[in-house]
Amino acid sequence: MASIVVSGRRRICGEARVTGAKNAALPILAATLIARGPVELENCPRLKDVENMLCILSSLGAQCEYCGDTLKIDTRSATGSVMPQSISKELRSSIFMLGPLLTRFGSAVCTFPGGCEIGHRPIDLHLKGLMMLGAEIREERGLIICRADRLKGAEIHLDYPSVGATENIMMAAACADGMTRIFNAAREPEIEDLALFLNELGYLVEGAGSSTLSVYGGEARREKTTHRIIPDRIVAGTLMAAAAITGGEIRLNDVCPAHVGSIAAKLKEAGCKIEQQGMSMRLSAPDRLNEIRLIETMPYPGFPTDMQAQMFALCAVAKGTSVIVENVFENRFRHAAELGRMGASFTQKDRTAIIRGVERLTGTKVTAWDLRGGAAMVLAGLAADGETTIEHAELIDRGYEKLHETLNGLGAEIRLEE
Ligand code: UD1
Repeated sequence: MASIVVSGRRRICGEARVTGAKNAALPILAATLIARGPVELENCPRLKDVENMLCILSSLGAQCEYCGDTLKIDTRSATGSVMPQSISKELRSSIFMLGPLLTRFGSAVCTFPGGCEIGHRPIDLHLKGLMMLGAEIREERGLIICRADRLKGAEIHLDYPSVGATENIMMAAACADGMTRIFNAAREPEIEDLALFLNELGYLVEGAGSSTLSVYGGEARREKTTHRIIPDRIVAGTLMAAAAITGGEIRLNDVCPAHVGSIAAKLKEAGCKIEQQGMSMRLSAPDRLNEIRLIETMPYPGFPTDMQAQMFALCAVAKGTSVIVENVFENRFRHAAELGRMGASFTQKDRTAIIRGVERLTGTKVTAWDLRGGAAMVLAGLAADGETTIEHAELIDRGYEKLHETLNGLGAEIRLEE
């Protein structure tokens, strides 16, 4: 268990580069299982979740090697289709392997996946989608056992635009016989990145970014593929929020401004000035932020649930009263009580939090219950009086590549304690 200690009252100022997107990299890593030859993934973030996916791929017989921020993967040597239980339990994204394994080996076995504790996270839409493609799925002693001689294209109507289910179905459908249409598909930029990767492998996916996806089943034709992972919109949003909460100024490079539009809109509402130029964004914050009348999390292009906790921290020290409604995950307010320990004033019931901004938070000992909640505590700690010690800070490494080092390079004083 790791802790980090954040010294308060620091202004975040300077220039930083945004790393590759975790949520794009994870499904793409699973999709390497259906590549015909070696794959090079550029701008691949070095994160705990990525490491765990690589452990699963290696245990299945794939060769994986980092070269700077390029990850070289060759899955031609993969033979297994039973995922190691201990890692799959830890990592929700292990579920992404089901579709590719099933389509490649005709069978796949995994445990119910774990991940951050942000509410009940069922996988029914993943399994229903795979069954629509012809998979037989049964559960036995906590294991999900899937079989299919050959998957067949189908029309799939998702009850909810689940990001993971859309991705899993896309990968399975890519190698199925015939065409698959996914209606009410997720529209996140990470879906577009996966579609691009599948197309680079030689499959054919159309409509990514819209709510209807067409996947024309076929074979991977390319012998060798190089793909560059898109910038992480949540890392970009978190760094902008760090500058915003500390009255700072930041220039972000390697960011895709279109992907952070909903986040930038709320930061502007709070009084920040934001300019964009190509793949760079510059934010300058006022001494004290204004309240944000309403943040409602939604599927893309709505406000991302993965930025909700960080915005909660901002609202905690803004001038007036802000309202946050969490529509995506039902139990994603565990950071609220921790921020309360630092002096945040709020009322929360079910999916709604009303936050009355206070002038100052005070550093104390808090716990990171999930990845983004941990990041929110770091932001709060930067703005607070005194020192904030965040326990279970290892959770932050699941989604941020050395966040403390990046922030220290921008004027923060954060140290690790084992
Ligand atoms: C992905 C992201 C995560 C982000 C989330 C929402 C990755 C690796 N993770 O997670 O960071 O917070 O999108 O933007 O990309 N649901 C079901 N049944 C299912 C699947 C999902 O009911 O089979 C529900 C979930 O409980 C949740 C909602 O759908 O309430 C959204 O989940 P989903 O879009 O699937 O999120 P993930 O893919 O798990």
